[in-house]
Amino acid sequence: MKHTRNFCIIAHIDHGKSTLADRLLEITGTISKDKMMPQYLDSMELEREKGITIKMAPARMNYNFQGKDYVLNLIDTPGHVDFSYEVSRSLEAVEGAVLLIDATKGIQAQTIANLDLARKQKLVIIPVINKIDMPAAQVEKTKKELVQLLNISEEEIFCISGKTGENVKELLEAVITKVPPPQGDEQAPLRALIFDSKFDSFKGVIAFVRIIDGNIKNAERISLLATKTDSEVKEVGFFLPDLTAKTILQTGEIGYIATGIKEPGKVRVGDTITLQNFKTQISPLPGYTEPKPMVFASLYPEFAEDYESLKEALGKLKLTDAAFVYEPEMREALGRGFRCGFLGNLHTEIVSERLKREFGLELVISTPSVIYKITNQRDQEFFINSAQDFPDPSTIKQIEEPWAKVEIMVPITYLGPVAEILKSFDARYLETQYYGLEKQLLIYEIPLREMMAGFYEKIKSQTQGFASINYEVVGHLPADLVKMEILIAGKKEEAFSKIVPRDKAFQEGKNITQKLKEVLPTQMFAVAIQAVVGGKVIARETLSAKRKDVIAPLYGGDYTRKKKLLEKQKKGKKELKERGEVNIPPKVFLEVLKG
Ligand code: GTP
Repeated sequence: MKHTRNFCIIAHIDHGKSTLADRLLEITGTISKDKMMPQYLDSMELEREKGITIKMAPARMNYNFQGKDYVLNLIDTPGHVDFSYEVSRSLEAVEGAVLLIDATKGIQAQTIANLDLARKQKLVIIPVINKIDMPAAQVEKTKKELVQLLNISEEEIFCISGKTGENVKELLEAVITKVPPPQGDEQAPLRALIFDSKFDSFKGVIAFVRIIDGNIKNAERISLLATKTDSEVKEVGFFLPDLTAKTILQTGEIGYIATGIKEPGKVRVGDTITLQNFKTQISPLPGYTEPKPMVFASLYPEFAEDYESLKEALGKLKLTDAAFVYEPEMREALGRGFRCGFLGNLHTEIVSERLKREFGLELVISTPSVIYKITNQRDQEFFINSAQDFPDPSTIKQIEEPWAKVEIMVPITYLGPVAEILKSFDARYLETQYYGLEKQLLIYEIPLREMMAGFYEKIKSQTQGFASINYEVVGHLPADLVKMEILIAGKKEEAFSKIVPRDKAFQEGKNITQKLKEVLPTQMFAVAIQAVVGGKVIARETLSAKRKDVIAPLYGGDYTRKKKLLEKQKKGKKELKERGEVNIPPKVFLEVLKG
């Protein structure tokens, strides 16, 4: 234990965590140079394709320093705000954090957010400036920003290149000298903290653990305290970085336990694993505060017969993505699907993409919605995240929507465009913090609904990616929202209903009626497509009738015959219309759901 160091690398997105991890794996001989591929720990196909880390990845390395053999457990973490739950769980399994800053960008929004998380865990922080090999590197300026942020002297900062390897060895040795060894009681009963997991069809759920006290060996009988599940260990081992079986995991170590448990829901991150003999004696570890989903979206299989496969896939995916939540949902027009909760738009996109790739499912996902708080006339409060649950307006006393505190780190040259965007999104100013002479951290409040509606993308594109954003939901504020309903040929189609701000209802109504006009197949009669709020039509489109040329076969001038046929056709249409039989194929619901 004395010679073990557990640490992670934290940074803003793209500052070079995975590349630095590559060099560390190389220097320690964990991965030989000929087997190395860039961003080795980003093992998911999607991570490699998008060039982002989605999941944390642990790796165990051996290193001889001043004649002593050390075990270094590294956890590489993602940088994007949607995956901060991965970061906070990693931080709880380690004693130190390498805070990496890209010398061409300096401090950015997630640098500060992740640093705050690390400070809360009382981790030792090693400040590092990366990418010093780049011509655009501004090392001196970045140093000044770091000195101010961390209240340290310039000498404490490491300047490295994860790409060329410059000074990386020195950094690794500083991890050994600066990060304390893990604490824990080797003689006490086993307590292992589950910080991640994945599914294996032979060995059951594999729990990624940090051994807090005691030790664990193969074939021992274990208990998971929160889910009250007993099992027998199929295998224990380390991340080298591939799973490698060993005979024992000891106090302070990071490794995995193949639990043999086949039901994914029984293994939860944050739970404590102990030995069955001790299960009534020990107190569980505090675990993690479960993250609250920020947005909800409906997920439906494109083909109804895939429902069971989707259900199974969601269970397995949840194991590797603890922030994702789901529950079954049934909608008349769409059949059976799931209502799912995500931490943000990127999280939503990644989950649906993983379901398609890793499980081969064709899915339809609705536009994500935030969670609204409703107080009724009897002062009862409840939350809804779908227009279907919107109560009768006469029963509503107040509707509130979530607001986020958004922190935008902006180089001063981009202050103008950013201010414009903030204004157009109805953001409220809170404060400005100054970082050096060239950067400001603008702190505003903004409805989360707006954050999800392209705010992030707009700021990024208007500042050529130089502004960075972090946000957290801070509470609910009253909002003037209404339920917009869609009538097709006079009949309400609940699946198309939407919750919208009153002052944007007109525009939203226009968008959806136009979209429906495009995707609805033409009928035998003209069909009115109406958007309605509180019984009043706010937008309308008409889908013209399919004109079957009933008189075409008649050439010559038999006028009365022509008229007769046309009248017959008109009557037929009227009858159809009265019966309200508009043919809406499921594809149309899916198209509109996609937004
Ligand atoms: P996320 O996990 O998605 O937040 O990214 P990351 O922090 O792991 O960054 P990654 O290692 O993927 O590097 C981002 C980009 O910067 C890649 O194109 C790397 O090749 C490049 N890069 C990383 N470190 C260096 C460096 O020291 N020098 C140079 N020139 N490029 C670097």
